[in-house]
Amino acid sequence: MHSHLLPGLDDGVSSLDETLECLQQLSAWGVQKVITTPHISRDWYPNTVEGIQQGLAQVRDLITEHNLPLTIDAAAEYLLDDFFVELLKTGDLLSFGEKRYLLVETGWASAPLQLADILFRIQTRGYVPVLAHPERYSYYHRDRESLAMLREAGCLFQLNSMSLNGRYGIHVAQQARYLLEQHWVDFLGSDLHRARDLKTMIKPLARKDMELLQEQPLQNDTLLS
Ligand SMILES: [Fe+2]
Repeated sequence: MHSHLLPGLDDGVSSLDETLECLQQLSAWGVQKVITTPHISRDWYPNTVEGIQQGLAQVRDLITEHNLPLTIDAAAEYLLDDFFVELLKTGDLLSFGEKRYLLVETGWASAPLQLADILFRIQTRGYVPVLAHPERYSYYHRDRESLAMLREAGCLFQLNSMSLNGRYGIHVAQQARYLLEQHWVDFLGSDLHRARDLKTMIKPLARKDMELLQEQPLQNDTLLS
């Protein structure tokens, strides 16, 4: 439920061939459904609903052409910038699942000043905010209290599976373990951007992380229908 597999829309895969390589491997691992989530932000990736749906149609054709045993939907990963606040007013947002989950991310330097207010507005528009990879934001490594406040405010958390096997370094792996220990992981995602990360995705996880994953309130299975 978090990946970048529509070529040309963001910093994810760069060609349909690379999309195919990723989808073939995912289906070989038993993945039945992919929800891909191109970035949307004003400064870097001002993607539109129409553009994402066009990209999705192309990839669906690719899946049919190659008889892959999986399905794909598209949502988006929204950067919480001023552009997002404008989009939220128009109500034209790409969510996923019956509960209208909305995948959001913050900048790497700091969280938006009005984060609590934005989360509240997301919920009053009928969406459930899901923070992408909270373990990756270094400003929360020193401020776990704020993560607890986000959860109290009704924000769900999505963990990147590769955070657990070292893709982003030791501090992110430690924060990922912390999220698991708190039982705060509502969605597990790959955040797959390129085919060369597939070999990292398959690296085994620590036994402790595997055990803790079984204890999470994971909602991934609710997305299969
Ligand atoms: Fe992402």
